[in-house]
Amino acid sequence: MTETVVSSALSSREHREPSRLWHTFCDMNTVTKGPEFVVERAEGVWLWDASGDRYLDGTASLWYCNVGHGRTEIADAVHRQISTLDAYTVYGDFSNRPAVELSERLSAHAPVADPRVILTCGGGESIDTAAKLARRYWAVTGQPGRTHLISRTGGYHGLHGFGTSISGMDRFRSGYGRLVEDTSVVPHDSAAALEAEILRVGPERVAAFFAEPVVGAGGVFPPQEGYFAEVSRICHRYGVLFVVDSVICGFGRMGNWFGIERFGVDPDMIVFAKGVSSGYLPLGGVVVGGRVADPFYNGEGNPFMHGTTYAGHPTACTAAMANLDILEREDLFTVSLEVERQLDGALRSLAGHPLVAEVRSGVGVMGAVELTEEALVRRGITTAEVFAEARARGVIVRPIPTALLVSPPLIITWEQIDHLVSTLAAALDAVASRH
Ligand SMILES: Cc1ncc(COP(=O)(O)O)c(C=O)c1O
Repeated sequence: MTETVVSSALSSREHREPSRLWHTFCDMNTVTKGPEFVVERAEGVWLWDASGDRYLDGTASLWYCNVGHGRTEIADAVHRQISTLDAYTVYGDFSNRPAVELSERLSAHAPVADPRVILTCGGGESIDTAAKLARRYWAVTGQPGRTHLISRTGGYHGLHGFGTSISGMDRFRSGYGRLVEDTSVVPHDSAAALEAEILRVGPERVAAFFAEPVVGAGGVFPPQEGYFAEVSRICHRYGVLFVVDSVICGFGRMGNWFGIERFGVDPDMIVFAKGVSSGYLPLGGVVVGGRVADPFYNGEGNPFMHGTTYAGHPTACTAAMANLDILEREDLFTVSLEVERQLDGALRSLAGHPLVAEVRSGVGVMGAVELTEEALVRRGITTAEVFAEARARGVIVRPIPTALLVSPPLIITWEQIDHLVSTLAAALDAVASRH
């Protein structure tokens, strides 16, 4: 997600007529005054714009291109599949080989007991699926009062109906009238706060707790030591379903399949998207534990009246299978742990910069460079300016209101990490010298 208004004034590209493409998360007034930033092609960690200028993709687009761009192996697999069976529904008993194979493969690696897989087209759709499933589970197992959903500050779960309603960032929730009711947000770093909230609401009313292994788009906040073991115990104690949102943290970004393995807990559901296909085609889903699935297979919940047209899309599932082949063959799970260390070391060199309040990194291939309050409030510096300076120097980072985020493809080299971080330092210097 890109939420900060990005000025295209720094771009030297000549003015063109504004297109009819509405860029959300963006001040369209700004975009229509200057040229759009057209990404023409991509390979590995590199992007090229319409003028042929090259940029390092320091964000793997939106945290998803884990295997890097331009993998012809995925393109070839997609071509073969789309020429054989382009698309077909998996409603009713309709099925297709790629959807089945992908579900089996994910089930084999998910830290969830007796897993079943519901497929969707992305993260937000999967969050809505998990939220509805959680509420419905309780409705069909004799506890219909359990509708309340608890999430965490900084948590981002997409912007569909439920995702908007459980967002841990107020700016995504306001202005839409009444959202989904019976939700609340607790501090991301306190297991005690989760327990207190369950007791305040009443355990007999709480359906599920949603958490990312590392808070991602909200600013890269890794959990404190022991946090997940404790929240998992709390969820068990009060019978609350524990839903892990691995949309960012999955598929190698934390050195394993779903991110949460790092903390040794076994959730009731895992939501995934992004890195499952490295974004080559849109795909997401929910791994559902057997206990939750059972009443929908064998009991009163049958059938689960929920789904979307493109769920189980064979071509998207084929792209995911080819992507997972690369992740496994190149052992990007192990490689990423070393990338995590290198990136952490490099980013920490920015901690002494006068504009920088804090660097958060070291858990997963991701990091945040938080600007000081003095820079943001007193000097009026914006992260959008830093983003623009970095992009003008050939490096893409992601601005959120108070920080610059990085989450490169897992194949990034040490030289490229140095290039990313030294360019970000130069961008910070350039902005500091203007204010
Ligand atoms: C943790 C998390 N969950 C859910 C989503 C929503 O995914 P999508 O944008 O595919 O709907 C995102 C998107 O960034 C995310 O970071």
